[in-house]
Amino acid sequence: MSVGLGDEAPDFTAETTEGPVKFHDWKGKSWAILFSHPKDFTPVCTTELGALAALKPEFDKRNTKVIGLSVDPMTSHEKWQGDIKEVTGQTVNFPMIADHDRKVSNLYGMIHPNASDTMTVRSVYIVGPDNKVKLTLTYPASTGGNFAELVRVLDSLQLTAGYSVATPADWKQGEDVIIVPAVSDEDAKTRFPKGFVAKKPYLQVTPQPNK
Ligand code: BEZ
Repeated sequence: MSVGLGDEAPDFTAETTEGPVKFHDWKGKSWAILFSHPKDFTPVCTTELGALAALKPEFDKRNTKVIGLSVDPMTSHEKWQGDIKEVTGQTVNFPMIADHDRKVSNLYGMIHPNASDTMTVRSVYIVGPDNKVKLTLTYPASTGGNFAELVRVLDSLQLTAGYSVATPADWKQGEDVIIVPAVSDEDAKTRFPKGFVAKKPYLQVTPQPNK
């Protein structure tokens, strides 16, 4: 099965390094990042888990919980955490699913047989408070993820959930945003009191409304 944008993130129960988790109950009304990595005790994955752990304060600020997965067993996850701490200086501060029966990997389509029959790819899902999937990313085993990008996307998702705006390429918190084309000029004047510039009839730019 594959999971697309706007789909409900499939619910599951799983054993994790922080005890049993029922996904929807665990995330509650928070945002969540569910990610898979290919294998424990591998170099790129070691750096990825350290990098995600280091970003916990940023995820907390954005009301976002993180949960990871690979098909390795719990004993392996637990032993590997010592290496992650030693190498990256970070304590893994989120649950890691031991998906040895591939239940969750198959539910989300995290195993791509033409890449590997035995390992999950590097999948990332951002799930909203409504349990709907807001972002999917897939990286190959040889490329570690850019987790600052996840923070940037969360900022965009959380802004655009509350205002009729979209964010342009490479947008960062505090930069101008785009008024969605469905908003008329008349409406834009009241909804965006900071004003807007029409670069084209379909491209109207306004300062970030919640700053
Ligand atoms: C890694 O994390 O370095 C890795 C994992 C699986 C295959 C190749 C690389």
